[in-house]
Amino acid sequence: MKKPLVIAIDGPAGAGKSTVARALASRLGLDYVDSGATYRAAALKVIESGISPDDEEAVSRLLAGADIQLDTAAVPPRVLLDGRDVTEKLRAPEVTLAAAKVSRLASVRAKLVDFQRSLASGDGVVMEGRDIGTVVFPDAPLKIFLEADPEERARRRWKQEESEGRNPSLEQTAYEIGRRDQLDAERKISPLLAAPDARRIDSTHLTAEEVVERIVGLARERGLIDGSEAGRTPDGGGSSSPRPAG
Ligand code: DC
Repeated sequence: MKKPLVIAIDGPAGAGKSTVARALASRLGLDYVDSGATYRAAALKVIESGISPDDEEAVSRLLAGADIQLDTAAVPPRVLLDGRDVTEKLRAPEVTLAAAKVSRLASVRAKLVDFQRSLASGDGVVMEGRDIGTVVFPDAPLKIFLEADPEERARRRWKQEESEGRNPSLEQTAYEIGRRDQLDAERKISPLLAAPDARRIDSTHLTAEEVVERIVGLARERGLIDGSEAGRTPDGGGSSSPRPAG
């Protein structure tokens, strides 16, 4: 049986990872996994439990018992927390901030990284996040580090917020993105970092389709997909037997 193909897409908030990863997965017939959603679900549990996201011990204890699942077959994918569909709650600003905090904790990361590894099955997965190419799947045969200028990232995130019915100002969005960049880049465990073997793509002046085209081109060059690109090559260069966390 062939190994699942893993395409890792990492980068800062607002660089276009979700749009690109989703379109790429659909084009290649792979599952799409938003690893950030698992940190957001963990953060939601912390908020709903009434404990402070800054109370590391209480957060670790609480989340040790959390049941977080992704239904990747659903379109769009659904996130289940302790059996409850919480997808619609995960993008609230307080969840965003708490997710940046709980994702700093080693115990939380170890649990969620294990879970994320378990999601590479079938033909394979396009997984987006911050540490997919460095920690979750260090052997992934194709790693992309997607970047864009901070102003452009703020503008895109602002448009996304608006389309989802929230109306922050552009300044507020830019401030929050800057704050998250800082939290993500400065945390001790798995900070946001390009893997040495990642291909950097700056999406500032590219459409999502153009970025997807480039990644499909790279996958083809590496023999990961066949010419018709409807699927993988038979031996696919797939990667990443799950490794133990830690
Ligand atoms: O991608 P996102 O905005 O939904 O991520 C939510 C938070 O989770 C963000 O602060 C970064 C963190 N995260 C992480 O630490 N590692 C990942 N692989 C994905 C997200």
